[in-house]
Amino acid sequence: MQTPINLAQRGISAADPKFLAIAPELQANIVKSHGRRHTASIFFRFRDGDNQQQKARQFLQELALNDLTSALQQQHDTEQTKHDHQQRFVVTALLSAEGYEFLGVPAAKRPADPQFAAGMKGSNAALADPPVSTWDSAYQGPIHGMILVAFGAPTRTKLDQRVRGIVQRLRHADLAAVLCVEEGDSIQNADGQDIEHFGYVDGISQPKFFLEEVAGMERAHWDPLMPLRLVLAPDPAGTTGHSFGSYFVFRKLEQNVRGFKEREKELAVELFHNPESELAGAMAVGRFENGTPVTLSAEDLKIDGSLIPTADLGRINDFNYDTDPGQRCPFHAHIRKSTPRGVVPGPGGTLDGEKNRMMARRGIIYGHRFVHPNEAIFEEMPTKGVGLLFMSFQHNLASQFEFIQQQWVNNPAFSQPAPPTGLDPVIGQGPLPDGVQRYATTYNDASTLATASAFGGFVTLKGGEYLFAPCLSFLRTLLPART
Ligand code: HEM
Repeated sequence: MQTPINLAQRGISAADPKFLAIAPELQANIVKSHGRRHTASIFFRFRDGDNQQQKARQFLQELALNDLTSALQQQHDTEQTKHDHQQRFVVTALLSAEGYEFLGVPAAKRPADPQFAAGMKGSNAALADPPVSTWDSAYQGPIHGMILVAFGAPTRTKLDQRVRGIVQRLRHADLAAVLCVEEGDSIQNADGQDIEHFGYVDGISQPKFFLEEVAGMERAHWDPLMPLRLVLAPDPAGTTGHSFGSYFVFRKLEQNVRGFKEREKELAVELFHNPESELAGAMAVGRFENGTPVTLSAEDLKIDGSLIPTADLGRINDFNYDTDPGQRCPFHAHIRKSTPRGVVPGPGGTLDGEKNRMMARRGIIYGHRFVHPNEAIFEEMPTKGVGLLFMSFQHNLASQFEFIQQQWVNNPAFSQPAPPTGLDPVIGQGPLPDGVQRYATTYNDASTLATASAFGGFVTLKGGEYLFAPCLSFLRTLLPART
């Protein structure tokens, strides 16, 4: 008999029999992003009533047997699509702690993470999240689960058709209330890279799990290869002995684009007396809009007087901050706060310890814009109604997502207590005083480090939940077999 997979092993082949043994049981999109251009996240709550628990179990069982995509299927589909160029759906189902409760799953068979059990609302104060009463109404009450449907065609037509079918099945005979369907639609820049609404390329830095993904990749300064245990958690409800699931964070983050872009310009004037300089925004995010890390040296960037990097650099990820005490990339920049890449102070602050906090980010932007983000002038930029459907998979909510949000991005004393670093300008939540965040007013010159007026408050949480992506054997056997 084959020895079981070692989840602590850093790097495994996608064709390794040990991975192939767990892949039919594992849902898609956890160890590898679905990468589709359009998504729908269907949030639902089962209705109380006679026999509703059985009906809910039946619905999920049929969904698992007919619709859900396994990691193995995702792998096969990717290969097929390379040959026939046909788009294929990815469908996954996730349950909240209240969903498990409704289904009557015994406590010993439920995912045990305490943060998951309490739900995102339970961490409201700890994360400095806005009060639940200010969230979109869909998220204010109990949520039992989310079904993600993703499709790669240029238009949403086929995706919407599939979603309508699933919504109908959920609503049939009053089984469930469909609380909302969040539509994610990616937008690309002129180079074909996915961007978020502030105009920056996103999705560059990710943990990678498969040797094939890092083949040929430069990894001298930052190695993204991580063991599967970063995102997999044993599923106690599995029936095959190869059963893993993953904890999932969903956060609907609204972006005040106009506010952010105006503030970027003001900061460019404040720091560099140049409203056209892209460096101010890059220092807030940690990358230029085209993805180029701002910590690369001036020679690497080949920047001219206006500090606009040459376009060909873009999505570089082989870097760290070892030679940058804040004079190129400020300590408070979004990507430096959320992944400090080795500059972790204090006892136990090892690189591996830091890397174990990484998450597999699977978000997509939402909200329709008539003018492309890279072209819009201030008057055409939205102040609400657009944003990021932040999604991430992890092994443990407290030590990954919650730690990053609470101890790093919201914590003005991270990563430098004195003088304090200040909040992350993109997602930091909490008091935001002027005169804390520091920038070099001459790029790469530490003697010019100076504080500036506060940058932040342009991203607002509109709702969310902690969910678990169960293994497929649990969902497929929710109803006992008839004898
Ligand atoms: C509207 C909200 C957000 C925006 C606009 C945003 C934007 C970005 C951008 C432009 C990047 C650079 C691309 C890349 O390196 O992949 C990035 C990276 C990243 N973001 Fe966010 N983000 C948001 C929310 C979040 C949240 C909620 C978290 C976690 C609490 C987060 C964690 C990260 C991490 C870990 C990275 C990779 C950093 C690295 O490895 O260097 N982001 N984000």
